[in-house]
Amino acid sequence: MSEVILALDVTTAEEAERLLDAVPRAGWVKVGSVLLTREGGALTRRLVARGLNVFLDLKWHDIPNTVAGAVAQARDMGVAMATVHTLGGRQMMEAAAAAAGDRLALVGVTVLTSHDRASYGKSVGRGDVVIEAEVERLGREARDSGLAGIVCSPAEVGRMRDMLGEGALLVVPGIRRSGDRVGDQQRVATPAAASAAGATHLVVGRPVLEAADPASAFAAFVEEAGCTRL
Ligand code: C5P
Repeated sequence: MSEVILALDVTTAEEAERLLDAVPRAGWVKVGSVLLTREGGALTRRLVARGLNVFLDLKWHDIPNTVAGAVAQARDMGVAMATVHTLGGRQMMEAAAAAAGDRLALVGVTVLTSHDRASYGKSVGRGDVVIEAEVERLGREARDSGLAGIVCSPAEVGRMRDMLGEGALLVVPGIRRSGDRVGDQQRVATPAAASAAGATHLVVGRPVLEAADPASAFAAFVEEAGCTRL
Protein backbone atom coordinates (compact mmCIF):
# COMPACT_ATOMS: atom_id res chain seq x y z
CA MET A 1 0.00 0.00 0.00
CA SER A 2 1.57 3.26 -1.13
CA GLU A 3 0.62 6.92 -1.04
CA VAL A 4 0.31 8.54 -4.47
CA ILE A 5 2.10 11.89 -4.82
CA LEU A 6 0.84 14.16 -7.58
CA ALA A 7 3.85 15.90 -9.23
CA LEU A 8 2.96 19.56 -9.77
CA ASP A 9 5.07 19.70 -12.93
CA VAL A 10 3.68 23.04 -14.11
CA THR A 11 5.28 26.46 -14.21
CA THR A 12 2.98 28.84 -12.36
CA ALA A 13 1.00 28.93 -9.13
CA GLU A 14 -2.18 29.49 -11.14
CA GLU A 15 -1.60 26.29 -13.12
CA ALA A 16 -0.76 24.37 -9.92
CA GLU A 17 -3.92 25.56 -8.22
CA ARG A 18 -6.03 24.79 -11.30
CA LEU A 19 -4.57 21.28 -11.31
CA LEU A 20 -5.40 20.81 -7.64
CA ASP A 21 -8.94 21.99 -8.20
CA ALA A 22 -9.19 19.38 -10.96
CA VAL A 23 -7.77 16.63 -8.69
CA PRO A 24 -9.38 17.37 -5.32
CA ARG A 25 -8.54 13.94 -3.89
CA ALA A 26 -4.78 14.50 -4.05
CA GLY A 27 -3.38 14.42 -0.52
CA TRP A 28 0.32 14.57 -1.43
CA VAL A 29 1.87 16.95 -3.95
CA LYS A 30 5.41 17.31 -5.24
CA VAL A 31 6.88 20.80 -5.66
CA GLY A 32 10.07 20.80 -7.73
CA SER A 33 12.68 23.37 -8.60
CA VAL A 34 10.83 24.92 -11.57
CA LEU A 35 7.73 25.85 -9.59
CA LEU A 36 9.71 26.80 -6.49
CA THR A 37 12.07 29.04 -8.46
CA ARG A 38 9.18 30.77 -10.15
CA GLU A 39 6.86 31.12 -7.17
CA GLY A 40 9.18 31.12 -4.15
CA GLY A 41 7.96 29.79 -0.83
CA ALA A 42 4.54 31.47 -0.95
CA LEU A 43 2.93 28.73 -3.01
CA THR A 44 4.36 26.00 -0.77
CA ARG A 45 2.89 27.77 2.27
CA ARG A 46 -0.49 27.98 0.56
CA LEU A 47 -0.38 24.26 -0.28
CA VAL A 48 0.43 23.42 3.33
CA ALA A 49 -2.38 25.72 4.48
CA ARG A 50 -4.75 23.82 2.15
CA GLY A 51 -3.99 20.74 4.22
CA LEU A 52 -1.78 19.05 1.62
CA ASN A 53 1.31 17.00 2.38
CA VAL A 54 4.05 18.75 0.42
CA PHE A 55 7.02 16.81 -0.97
CA LEU A 56 9.66 19.45 -1.72
CA ASP A 57 12.00 17.92 -4.29
CA LEU A 58 14.98 20.28 -4.57
CA LYS A 59 17.73 17.62 -4.23
CA TRP A 60 19.90 19.75 -1.96
CA HIS A 61 23.65 19.22 -2.38
CA ASP A 62 25.77 21.92 -0.70
CA ILE A 63 27.94 22.39 2.38
CA PRO A 64 26.37 20.91 5.54
CA ASN A 65 25.58 24.29 7.12
CA THR A 66 23.71 25.55 4.06
CA VAL A 67 21.73 22.35 3.56
CA ALA A 68 20.81 22.25 7.26
CA GLY A 69 19.58 25.83 6.94
CA ALA A 70 17.43 25.00 3.92
CA VAL A 71 16.03 21.92 5.67
CA ALA A 72 15.13 24.03 8.72
CA GLN A 73 13.22 26.46 6.48
CA ALA A 74 11.29 23.61 4.86
CA ARG A 75 10.55 22.10 8.26
CA ASP A 76 9.25 25.41 9.60
CA MET A 77 7.06 25.90 6.52
CA GLY A 78 5.33 22.62 7.33
CA VAL A 79 6.75 20.63 4.41
CA ALA A 80 6.18 16.90 5.00
CA MET A 81 9.02 15.39 2.96
CA ALA A 82 12.07 16.73 1.09
CA THR A 83 15.08 15.47 -0.86
CA VAL A 84 18.82 15.84 -0.39
CA HIS A 85 21.44 14.39 -2.73
CA THR A 86 23.37 11.52 -1.14
CA LEU A 87 26.53 12.54 -3.02
CA GLY A 88 26.64 15.56 -0.69
CA GLY A 89 28.26 13.14 1.74
CA ARG A 90 27.83 11.84 5.26
CA GLN A 91 28.38 15.12 7.10
CA MET A 92 25.88 16.94 4.91
CA MET A 93 23.24 14.25 5.34
CA GLU A 94 23.79 14.07 9.11
CA ALA A 95 23.42 17.85 9.43
CA ALA A 96 20.29 17.71 7.26
CA ALA A 97 18.78 14.87 9.31
CA ALA A 98 19.47 16.73 12.55
CA ALA A 99 17.78 19.86 11.21
CA ALA A 100 14.77 17.87 10.00
CA GLY A 101 14.22 16.25 13.39
CA ASP A 102 10.98 14.30 13.46
CA ARG A 103 8.83 16.95 11.75
CA LEU A 104 10.19 16.51 8.23
CA ALA A 105 10.99 13.23 6.45
CA LEU A 106 14.21 13.53 4.46
CA VAL A 107 14.88 11.13 1.61
CA GLY A 108 18.13 10.80 -0.34
CA VAL A 109 18.49 10.83 -4.11
CA THR A 110 21.11 8.26 -5.13
CA VAL A 111 22.08 8.04 -8.84
CA LEU A 112 20.05 10.29 -11.14
CA THR A 113 18.26 8.20 -13.73
CA SER A 114 19.60 10.53 -16.44
CA HIS A 115 23.03 8.91 -15.91
CA ASP A 116 24.22 5.77 -17.62
CA ARG A 117 27.21 3.77 -16.49
CA ALA A 118 29.71 5.77 -18.55
CA SER A 119 28.43 9.25 -17.70
CA TYR A 120 28.17 8.44 -14.00
CA GLY A 121 31.69 6.94 -13.89
CA LYS A 122 33.04 10.06 -15.58
CA SER A 123 31.21 12.42 -13.20
CA VAL A 124 32.64 10.76 -10.09
CA GLY A 125 36.11 10.26 -11.60
CA ARG A 126 35.94 6.49 -11.51
CA GLY A 127 36.28 4.10 -14.39
CA ASP A 128 33.70 1.41 -14.63
CA VAL A 129 30.86 1.82 -12.15
CA VAL A 130 28.01 -0.62 -11.70
CA ILE A 131 25.04 1.68 -11.18
CA GLU A 132 23.05 -0.82 -9.08
CA ALA A 133 25.98 -1.28 -6.69
CA GLU A 134 26.35 2.47 -6.46
CA VAL A 135 22.65 2.91 -5.64
CA GLU A 136 23.05 0.34 -2.86
CA ARG A 137 26.17 2.00 -1.50
CA LEU A 138 24.53 5.44 -1.45
CA GLY A 139 21.32 4.00 0.00
CA ARG A 140 23.34 2.57 2.88
CA GLU A 141 25.07 5.93 3.39
CA ALA A 142 21.65 7.62 3.51
CA ARG A 143 20.38 5.18 6.12
CA ASP A 144 23.56 5.39 8.23
CA SER A 145 23.38 9.19 8.14
CA GLY A 146 19.91 9.16 9.66
CA LEU A 147 17.78 9.90 6.58
CA ALA A 148 14.25 8.47 6.56
CA GLY A 149 14.69 6.76 3.18
CA ILE A 150 15.60 7.22 -0.45
CA VAL A 151 14.19 7.97 -3.89
CA CYS A 152 14.69 5.05 -6.26
CA SER A 153 13.49 3.67 -9.56
CA PRO A 154 10.95 0.83 -9.83
CA ALA A 155 13.82 -1.45 -10.85
CA GLU A 156 15.53 -0.99 -7.50
CA VAL A 157 12.64 -0.81 -5.07
CA GLY A 158 12.48 -4.50 -4.09
CA ARG A 159 16.21 -4.76 -3.46
CA MET A 160 16.23 -1.48 -1.50
CA ARG A 161 13.31 -2.63 0.65
CA ASP A 162 15.26 -5.78 1.54
CA MET A 163 18.40 -3.80 2.22
CA LEU A 164 16.96 -0.86 4.17
CA GLY A 165 14.35 -2.80 6.14
CA GLU A 166 10.74 -2.21 7.05
CA GLY A 167 10.80 1.35 8.34
CA ALA A 168 12.51 3.04 5.38
CA LEU A 169 10.62 5.38 3.07
CA LEU A 170 10.97 4.42 -0.61
CA VAL A 171 9.78 7.13 -2.97
CA VAL A 172 9.38 5.87 -6.52
CA PRO A 173 8.81 7.85 -9.75
CA GLY A 174 8.32 6.25 -13.18
CA ILE A 175 4.86 4.89 -12.41
CA ARG A 176 2.54 3.98 -15.29
CA ARG A 177 -0.63 1.96 -15.59
CA SER A 178 -0.68 -0.53 -18.45
CA GLY A 179 -1.71 1.48 -21.49
CA ASP A 180 -0.24 4.79 -20.22
CA ARG A 181 2.34 6.49 -22.41
CA VAL A 182 5.84 5.86 -21.06
CA GLY A 183 7.32 9.15 -22.37
CA ASP A 184 11.00 9.60 -21.48
CA GLN A 185 10.90 7.29 -18.45
CA GLN A 186 13.32 4.40 -19.02
CA ARG A 187 12.19 2.05 -16.29
CA VAL A 188 8.54 2.03 -15.35
CA ALA A 189 6.28 -0.08 -13.16
CA THR A 190 2.58 -0.19 -12.48
CA PRO A 191 1.29 1.24 -9.20
CA ALA A 192 0.39 -2.26 -8.04
CA ALA A 193 3.86 -3.69 -8.82
CA ALA A 194 5.78 -0.82 -7.22
CA SER A 195 3.55 -0.95 -4.17
CA ALA A 196 3.91 -4.72 -3.83
CA ALA A 197 7.71 -4.39 -4.14
CA GLY A 198 7.75 -2.13 -1.09
CA ALA A 199 7.34 1.48 -2.28
CA THR A 200 5.83 3.79 0.34
CA HIS A 201 5.22 6.72 -2.04
CA LEU A 202 4.60 6.73 -5.81
CA VAL A 203 5.30 9.95 -7.74
CA VAL A 204 2.97 10.41 -10.70
CA GLY A 205 3.01 13.31 -13.14
CA ARG A 206 2.13 13.16 -16.82
CA PRO A 207 -0.36 10.27 -16.74
CA VAL A 208 -2.55 12.51 -14.56
CA LEU A 209 -1.55 15.95 -15.87
CA GLU A 210 -2.16 14.97 -19.47
CA ALA A 211 -5.31 12.92 -18.87
CA ALA A 212 -8.61 14.06 -20.35
CA ASP A 213 -10.07 13.53 -16.87
CA PRO A 214 -7.26 14.08 -14.33
CA ALA A 215 -9.48 13.30 -11.32
CA SER A 216 -10.38 9.82 -12.51
CA ALA A 217 -6.83 9.12 -13.73
CA PHE A 218 -5.54 10.01 -10.25
CA ALA A 219 -8.24 7.91 -8.57
CA ALA A 220 -7.23 4.93 -10.72
CA PHE A 221 -3.61 5.27 -9.55
CA VAL A 222 -4.71 5.45 -5.92
CA GLU A 223 -6.91 2.41 -6.30
CA GLU A 224 -4.17 0.38 -8.00
CA ALA A 225 -1.64 1.38 -5.36
CA GLY A 226 -4.01 -0.04 -2.75
CA CYS A 227 -3.99 3.27 -0.97
CA THR A 228 -6.77 3.63 1.57
CA ARG A 229 -6.09 7.28 2.46
CA LEU A 230 -7.41 9.57 -0.24
O1 C5P B 1 5.49 12.66 -15.54
P1 C5P B 1 6.09 11.56 -14.76
O2 C5P B 1 5.09 10.64 -14.09
O3 C5P B 1 7.16 10.82 -15.48
O4 C5P B 1 6.77 12.38 -13.55
C1 C5P B 1 7.51 11.82 -12.59
C2 C5P B 1 8.04 12.87 -11.65
O5 C5P B 1 9.11 12.29 -10.93
C3 C5P B 1 8.61 14.12 -12.33
O6 C5P B 1 8.37 15.23 -11.47
C4 C5P B 1 10.09 13.85 -12.42
O7 C5P B 1 10.87 15.01 -12.37
C5 C5P B 1 10.33 13.00 -11.18
N1 C5P B 1 11.47 12.09 -11.24
C6 C5P B 1 11.63 11.13 -12.21
N2 C5P B 1 12.69 10.28 -12.21
C7 C5P B 1 13.59 10.38 -11.27
C8 C5P B 1 13.46 11.33 -10.26
C9 C5P B 1 12.38 12.18 -10.29
O8 C5P B 1 10.81 11.01 -13.08
N3 C5P B 1 14.59 9.54 -11.26
